[in-house]
Amino acid sequence: MSVKDRNGYEDLVKTIKSCTRCPLHASRKNAVPGEGPLDAEVMVVGEAPGRSEDEQGRPFVGAAGKLLDRLLGEAGLERGRVYITNIVKCRPPNNRDPKPEEIQACLPYLIEQIKTIRPKVIIAVGRIAGSTLYKLAGLRWEGVRRERGRIVRARIGGVDVVIVPTYHPAAALYNPQLRGELEEDFKGPVKRAVREAGRGRKPPTLEDFME
Ligand code: URA
Repeated sequence: MSVKDRNGYEDLVKTIKSCTRCPLHASRKNAVPGEGPLDAEVMVVGEAPGRSEDEQGRPFVGAAGKLLDRLLGEAGLERGRVYITNIVKCRPPNNRDPKPEEIQACLPYLIEQIKTIRPKVIIAVGRIAGSTLYKLAGLRWEGVRRERGRIVRARIGGVDVVIVPTYHPAAALYNPQLRGELEEDFKGPVKRAVREAGRGRKPPTLEDFME
């Protein structure tokens, strides 16, 4: 990554931290731009900061974050190697869903992050992340139940990526049934997509089918 890109990223972080583009800025303690290496091959995109994230200014540091760290491990990934961010960078009051106009106001930041980091794989956790990324890529979203575990080629901000949608880890905290499916998605499609990306997307070999 060039010095210019790194400086550009730092400017972006400053802009996000002082952003007033939507009403969510009024109730936040801290905006949560995201964190991770700028040369990460894998990006995780969640929905929005929760209480702990708002307090610390860091993504996925509460209970859902602990589960996310474990799930990443099951895909053979360390959190420190992954860039983690959200669709909206400020906490919606009482953790309500972000409104379409809040998502719209915040999206240029995510697009800028994707252009800077140029991830090969984006793990979209939850309905809001999945449907928003599909829309950005011009893809049709058929609901998280249908889309979860797919490995979908897309182009966002001029960057070729694969998106792997899955459930949000917070959903699995409330609904233990989803936990198994979430683990399957990380052990299977997420791991496979990361491995294929690491190989420069060569065609699959026999090993890919021997999980
Ligand atoms: N849930 C999210 O979607 N993002 C976070 O950063 C934390 C919880």
